[in-house]
Amino acid sequence: MSQGPGDQGPGERNLRIRTATDADLPHIVRLDEQAFPTDPYPFFVVRQLLTAFPDFLLLVEDDEDLRGYVFSTPPRAAESWVLSLGIVPDLRGHGLGRKLMVETLMKLRAEGARTVRLSVEPRNTPAITLYEDLGFVPDPDGPCPDYFGPGEDRLLMTLAL
Ligand SMILES: CC(C)(COP(=O)(O)OP(=O)(O)OC[C@H]1O[C@@H](n2cnc3c(N)ncnc32)[C@H](O)[C@@H]1OP(=O)(O)O)[C@@H](O)C(=O)NCCC(=O)NCCS
Repeated sequence: MSQGPGDQGPGERNLRIRTATDADLPHIVRLDEQAFPTDPYPFFVVRQLLTAFPDFLLLVEDDEDLRGYVFSTPPRAAESWVLSLGIVPDLRGHGLGRKLMVETLMKLRAEGARTVRLSVEPRNTPAITLYEDLGFVPDPDGPCPDYFGPGEDRLLMTLAL
């Protein structure tokens, strides 16, 4: 995967999207800590997701380093979840999150998913804007209170593939 010469941001040359391997584990943990500094996944959760669903952990990298990741789940009864999406802070706004999501949605559809769901922090405007742009629809009842524990409301969004 690559971009045209006119729309390359810093470090965005020769972008590639690929599935993760065991060797990526410490780097994915680092990416997750950069994306969610206050509440990253515990190491063991990343380890278990990588072990259980390696084909559903997509990474975007350039010639220098990994730049972002997305976790999703294999479809069950034609429904998948996007569990987490993160792009390194200094490369946000250059289209990497959208590329990872588009690739993930194509994969999930090919695997048989017809519905994709996710949860997002209700004030996370960049993420919600991206998801709405991709066709995700917010729960009409609004954010679900205490979804991830006291005070941790989340907006559920659904995409029909
Ligand atoms: C959310 C996140 C993954 C977006 O990745 P990104 O690579 O910066 O996003 P992109 O450059 O691909 O932008 C895609 C679209 O998202 C929306 N978007 C991105 N940044 C935005 C911002 N700061 N404000 C509003 N909308 C924004 C726009 O619709 C944009 O489309 P456009 O470029 O055509 O306007 C990234 O900001 C991130 O890693 N945030 C921290 C972790 C996080 O919150 N993850 C989501 C948890 S559910």
